[in-house]
Amino acid sequence: MIRSEPHGEVMLVVADNPPVNALSQELRHALGDALDRAEADPAVGAIVICCDGRGFFAGADIGALGKSSTPPSLPQLIEKIEGSQKPVIAAIHGNALGGGLEVALGCHYRIATRSAKLGLSEVKLGLLPGAGGTQRLPRLVGVEKALSMIVTGEPVTATDALGMDLIDRLVDDDSLVREAILFARERISARDHPRSSLRTDRLADAVRDPAMFDRFRHEIAGKTRGFAAPEACIKAIEAAVKLPFADGMARERALFASLVKSDQSRAQRHVFFAERTAAKVDDIPPGVPRIPIAGVGIVGTGTMGGGIAMNFLSIGIPVTIVEREQAALDRGLATIRRNYERAASRGRLSGEEVDKAMSLLASSLAIEALADCDLIIEAVFESMAVKQEVFRKLDAVAKPGAILASNTSRLDLNEIAAQTGRPEAVIGLHFFSPANVMRLLEVVRSAKTGASQLATAMDLAKRIGKVAVVSGVCPGFIGNRMLGQRSRQAQLLILEGAKPWDVDRVLTNFGFPMGPFQMSDLAGLDLGWRRESSKGESIRDLLCERDRRGQKTSKGYYDYDSNRMATPSAEVESIIAEFAASRRYRPRQISEQEILERLLYPMINEGAKILEEGIAQRASDIDVVWVNGYGWPAFTGGPMFWADGINLQTIVAGLQSHQARFGAEFAVSQLLQRKASNAGRFN
Ligand code: NAI
Repeated sequence: MIRSEPHGEVMLVVADNPPVNALSQELRHALGDALDRAEADPAVGAIVICCDGRGFFAGADIGALGKSSTPPSLPQLIEKIEGSQKPVIAAIHGNALGGGLEVALGCHYRIATRSAKLGLSEVKLGLLPGAGGTQRLPRLVGVEKALSMIVTGEPVTATDALGMDLIDRLVDDDSLVREAILFARERISARDHPRSSLRTDRLADAVRDPAMFDRFRHEIAGKTRGFAAPEACIKAIEAAVKLPFADGMARERALFASLVKSDQSRAQRHVFFAERTAAKVDDIPPGVPRIPIAGVGIVGTGTMGGGIAMNFLSIGIPVTIVEREQAALDRGLATIRRNYERAASRGRLSGEEVDKAMSLLASSLAIEALADCDLIIEAVFESMAVKQEVFRKLDAVAKPGAILASNTSRLDLNEIAAQTGRPEAVIGLHFFSPANVMRLLEVVRSAKTGASQLATAMDLAKRIGKVAVVSGVCPGFIGNRMLGQRSRQAQLLILEGAKPWDVDRVLTNFGFPMGPFQMSDLAGLDLGWRRESSKGESIRDLLCERDRRGQKTSKGYYDYDSNRMATPSAEVESIIAEFAASRRYRPRQISEQEILERLLYPMINEGAKILEEGIAQRASDIDVVWVNGYGWPAFTGGPMFWADGINLQTIVAGLQSHQARFGAEFAVSQLLQRKASNAGRFN
């Protein structure tokens, strides 16, 4: 786990704890012992800490968080490192995240390879860096940068780290250990070694201008709404500025201790593990051969096609786009370029990277142009007839072995696959809008999808930075099928007397970024609506007929001003009241609790059916879908984890009481019933 290699006067201490060099209890012990020996050995003048394998220490052992352990704890180990009389150098490659970076912050010097990434990602687990990270990082890089790194949890590149003095030297990937040893030798004769905990110079700005904390709070409020950890991170950094180091450490500890046992952190850790588990397909052996994907084809470059293309272009895979008419193609290509340029103007990409991505893009009006592609993704209109026609053509032109994918959001993939002579090659890749941004990918397996094709899709999803979840075939797959339940109840609630803004508010208070009516206004009420066939049979029909088609027409369920600020609409209220009266609804006061139960309990019930039918592999996959694709607040862990938390018996009782009033659509699924009766859980 730890080995010590003398290189002249420099002792190289190497950790090897696959897969990610997590700082487990055993590793901390072994590292502490190795440091003690090096400290005591008069032949040793300097110490280099580095790691074998994929990267530097990836952080604490998350599975062991909150459990008791024997010394040294991580803060104690880091204190020992910092207190060493001999210079200690962290030699970083790969990722140095969380506790890993905290170890490096305790070292006197840090050297990293060009490809390394450094970050304090604890906030993503509902925690804060609890081993001195909130106290040492601001002392090294200044409060402003520390706030941003700790509160967003996003890592920085080694180049950025050098720019902010987080590291002392940047080296080529293949010369890390050699350079670190040379660097260590240079430091042996120095009389004193920089200890992060002793520095105060970088805190000066915040001492002069303590209002910077409130400005930062204000800036991030929208993104962190509902989450407890970001505020705790800020408080800990404030303590770094206001208090002596030891007191700041105590404050960090106390804040950490309350987060680690909180429901929010438990929920966020559940999501963290759930995302990793989702990548596993239970019935596919790990060794199944993968299909090499060197070129991707896309059919249709509307809202989805362009965004899908960007995922592959951005990682260097050439893409060929096929459209049915030149105007649509031109529009699609222009949108891709505009999106890249916007990313460049925000500093997320360099001009060169934009040019490189665009140079990998080819286009055509002839589907034959896709003959060489290893993967072809269809993103044409959501119509079975149109899609079947496209797949018949793809079957004729695609090379043998190519994967043929559909981006359908609810159609029967088996019927699409049946149009080809190679149903094993057909798979669903359900991207979410905007496809270049949203992390979720539902990978849909038909009755005949091949194991290699499925395994390849899961690997590829990871390469393009998506969280993939496997779904079987059913209308709407996992996410949209559950969304259907929520939408239905939302519509009923406004007929029964709740206002759209009441319904939205209940969900935003719960932690969603927006409610169902705000979402409809954003997406456009006229998706799938046609004036010619509209018969005023729903609120949506009535609104679209009055040209209230959502944000794009400045009015939908809400009225919008020129800054897209929404206000409740009196016109909508009277449209709803009139329509409800014509359908014999008598308006009543509906409590927030009823609104919440009516919206969410049927989703849990549907989730249980999805599990029962084997559409989802596991309950945690459903949580991953909703957290990453539909804005379900991660701090509640996703729908199924949330249901476990409030108790399945409570959910069943709620569904039963709604069933007594509203009928069979609330009938409890067998699986949910069984689990509730046995005091069981989904997760
Ligand atoms: P869209 O209407 O914006 O784009 C469809 C494009 O396909 C158009 O540019 C059209 O010219 C082109 N097209 C139609 N037939 C074609 C053919 N035979 N050959 C080549 N090009 C053809 O539609 P959108 O929104 O991009 O949806 C595409 C698919 O993605 C649908 O299956 C939809 O259900 C699915 N989807 C849409 C989402 C959304 O939020 N818009 C989210 C997830 C999936």
